[in-house]
Amino acid sequence: MIGRLNHVAIAVKDLAAATAIYRDTLGAQVSEPLPQPAHGVTVVFVQLPNTKIELLEPLGEASTIAGFLDKNPSGGIHHVCYEVDDILAARDQLKAAGARVLGNGEPKIGAHGKPVLFLHPKDFCGTLVEIEQV
Ligand code: CO
Repeated sequence: MIGRLNHVAIAVKDLAAATAIYRDTLGAQVSEPLPQPAHGVTVVFVQLPNTKIELLEPLGEASTIAGFLDKNPSGGIHHVCYEVDDILAARDQLKAAGARVLGNGEPKIGAHGKPVLFLHPKDFCGTLVEIEQV
């Protein structure tokens, strides 16, 4: 069902410092910070030859990653995103297999303008999983 790894998202408290680590220490290509108020984050995209890293900093009071950073003050891997061809077919197959889909189960438009869903970490080896239709 799943295809390519689209991105790994890393939550950070200090986006400028995290960007500097990826740009200067690791020598990667990084984007400008991109505020995404609908998702409660500011994102920097790190482009790697085979995938992307997304550095996420909380934006606004009700950021979805604020709680994660309370538990992981130095930051950490927040989720992984796998590509699927048909998000509704993937959702139905996952639900039939007993996996929990977060939210109301309807895809939302994600950071790349494509439909996404999130899957419960307890059903996927303790890792929040995003699926994105590409
Ligand atoms: Co993501």
